[in-house]
Amino acid sequence: MIITIIGTGYVGLVTGVCLSEFGFDVTCIDNQPEKVALLQKNISPIYEPGLEQMMRSNADEGRLHFEGDVSACVPGSDVVFLAVGTPSADNGEDVDLRYVFAAIEDIAPHLKDGVVVIVKCTVVPGTSKRIHDRIGELRPDLDFSVVSNPEFLREGSAIQDFMRPDRVVLGIHDDRGRMAAEQLYRPLKLQDTPITVGSLAGAELSKYAANAFLAMKVSFINQIADLCEKVDGNIIEVSEIIGLDGRIGDKFLRAGPGFGGSCFPKDTRALAAFARKVGAPQDLVEATIEVNEDRKRRMAERVLDAIGDPTGKTVTILGVAFKSDTDDIRESPALPVLDMLIEKGVNVRAFDPKATEPAAKLYPDVVWAGDPYEAALGAHAVVIMTEWNVLRALELDRLRDAMAVPLMIDLRNIHKRKEPTRFGFSYISIGRDRAEPTELDTAAE
Ligand code: UGA
Repeated sequence: MIITIIGTGYVGLVTGVCLSEFGFDVTCIDNQPEKVALLQKNISPIYEPGLEQMMRSNADEGRLHFEGDVSACVPGSDVVFLAVGTPSADNGEDVDLRYVFAAIEDIAPHLKDGVVVIVKCTVVPGTSKRIHDRIGELRPDLDFSVVSNPEFLREGSAIQDFMRPDRVVLGIHDDRGRMAAEQLYRPLKLQDTPITVGSLAGAELSKYAANAFLAMKVSFINQIADLCEKVDGNIIEVSEIIGLDGRIGDKFLRAGPGFGGSCFPKDTRALAAFARKVGAPQDLVEATIEVNEDRKRRMAERVLDAIGDPTGKTVTILGVAFKSDTDDIRESPALPVLDMLIEKGVNVRAFDPKATEPAAKLYPDVVWAGDPYEAALGAHAVVIMTEWNVLRALELDRLRDAMAVPLMIDLRNIHKRKEPTRFGFSYISIGRDRAEPTELDTAAE
């Protein structure tokens, strides 16, 4: 089967590389020439563990290609994946489908009879049908099918998520689409991956519902963490206890500074706006968004409260990526903290093992250090914003000695409470803070 993938963002690139790993002949297309030039040298424009090695091996085997022009490969393709970006529209809420329909205009003249167009990007219900109708208008004589096949991979574990997914979701309108998609995912089917087959709109909605539900879990546990702080509870304990209930599940119950990234914030807003428009408002999703926005602000305030008068103070931000194992800073909860500190005139130093480059472009006045200890020089507080392993493995005595005041604000709860305090730190975390840990806490940890 010959496959073309339009768009080489996270979803497109990982899908293309993994399908070539399955043995298919795959060409990935991108309209940014500088990106294509990098990809042709087997350099990944994104940091994703394992991706570059897999790219290189499949390109070496002659199964994976990168091009800038659809006319080179779409005419020979049996399957064309749409994996272009679907950002938030200018109003900050609706999903902007302009790149999707621009891609349709581009590929339509080149599609061959019998082609299956697979919609991988996250689009509101009804979009795949619109895509079908638009191709029909542009090519009235073409015999083709459209499949909706949303992607559930996470940044940082994208290869694993593609190769061992919880499920593959297919929305179809005919047997040809179904058969082509099932053929593509046969290696996963043979590993007993559930493959669901339903309507186009059902598949489209399932993607939004999944992200919104997970985001809701995060906002929920973050609010329970607030409650823990009022009643001397410990959020780690509470998460563990409720997670042991199989109906709840133990995933996505880590309290933190709020969710970020390119998906949860954008998709929850898009779902809420879409649902309002079609007359089925999603109150829980609206509340999830509001709780998260408020949380990001309050985390910044928590840092300011902890340092007292900001005049002449230095604060070190450890981690700016929206989560570990990615260099992505889009809607990272670290950004509002940086913004507020800078606004208050605090000197900000920072370190991130992967995201320094994009972050330094946005924050040129921050001092970007090569390691956490250099970043902590003369600081009146360090703030852990991302759960990087390198921050779990901090040498606490070295960190303390670099700082002016040993204050650690751990917004990811990656340290055990007794450890930083044993090294002389004042330690503030999420949902488990009291002035001093008691013997009972120490025993529990
Ligand atoms: C998310 C979904 O998990 C994927 O299934 C989906 O395919 C993807 O969006 C997408 O739509 O493309 P991703 O944005 O890579 O993946 O990141 P997640 O691991 O889901 O984390 C999202 C945010 O929630 C991060 O800011 C993370 O720190 C936060 N989070 C997650 C918590 O604060 N606590 C948790 O327990 C889990």
